[in-house]
Amino acid sequence: MSTSPILSCIGAGRLGSTLCKLLAQHLSIGQVLNRSQASSDQAAEFIGAGTAINNSDQLQTADIWLLATPDDAIESNFKILQARSMLRSGDIVFHCSGALTAAILRQPSVLSASIHPMHSFADPQRSAKNFAGTPCAIEGHPSAVAKLVKLFNAIGARPFEISSTQKVLYHAAAVMSCNYLVTLLDTGENILRAAGIDSGGPADSPLRPLIEQTIQNYYSTSAKRALTGPITRGDHGTVVAHLSALEKSSTANPMWPDLYRSLGLASVLLARQLNPTGSAELDRIEKLLRADKDAQINP
Ligand SMILES: NC(=O)c1ccc[n+]([C@@H]2O[C@H](COP(=O)([O-])OP(=O)(O)OC[C@H]3O[C@@H](n4cnc5c(N)ncnc54)[C@H](OP(=O)(O)O)[C@@H]3O)[C@@H](O)[C@H]2O)c1
Repeated sequence: MSTSPILSCIGAGRLGSTLCKLLAQHLSIGQVLNRSQASSDQAAEFIGAGTAINNSDQLQTADIWLLATPDDAIESNFKILQARSMLRSGDIVFHCSGALTAAILRQPSVLSASIHPMHSFADPQRSAKNFAGTPCAIEGHPSAVAKLVKLFNAIGARPFEISSTQKVLYHAAAVMSCNYLVTLLDTGENILRAAGIDSGGPADSPLRPLIEQTIQNYYSTSAKRALTGPITRGDHGTVVAHLSALEKSSTANPMWPDLYRSLGLASVLLARQLNPTGSAELDRIEKLLRADKDAQINP
């Protein structure tokens, strides 16, 4: 009779406890180690399995280790596993950081990997329910990758392999399009408020239908087709007026003109894809966006 592999987790927070709960359907959960006993107890209760501990003295061997502490504590916890001789030949050890690779978990004969779920684990209860379909970028030792791909497929993930050398760039893409999107949406709300329109929150914002329509257009057409507005139309005068208005608000919000200029220049590049032979209007707009403050306000 074959027994299922044992997975132990160091750092069962939002991501760790969610993954353990899902993986518990396919393997045995061994130990759950957080810094405080109360936190470990809470995680084990949520997972519905595992022995809650709060001291690495109590660690026992396991077949698979998930290190799901904050990124900065992953390597030190791996070293604790090494110092306590917890890692045996053929054991799998992995973390879920988006920016770090499996290289920080190096020990001969141990199979290390990293797997980064493209999911925002804000609430473990909700994440456990809607994790299915999550793309997960995986890299590391081929045997660890093969086993983890099987496990993550079993919990409904969509694993895809990524080159270790490109992982940081991959993560920068995720941060820009996910985290910075939130910052951009919030900036739009703040500018609207400065214009005297306060909807009380994003849910009722007059920007919301426009944003939702734009995201729909982006995914159903292409970036260049979804880009509407003054830059792609070549409306130089409108861009001049925007910059002037943002500069006037810039005492309180010094980031706005810079953000507008940087994103505007990226939008010019996109707009040029529709007009690859060149456009005098886009050239003028690009010059304006690149110009220093005085030149933009009084071109
Ligand atoms: N959250 C996400 O959306 C998300 C998405 C993709 C990837 N990730 C990755 O997942 C990992 C965990 O992130 P998270 O958001 O789940 O973190 P989190 O909710 O803050 O949980 C971290 C857990 O680690 C424990 N911990 C902290 N320092 C520790 C240490 N030195 N030794 C042992 N345990 C320690 C904490 O225990 P206490 O409760 O006792 O402090 C807590 O249970 C990170 O590598 C992150 O990059 C997260």
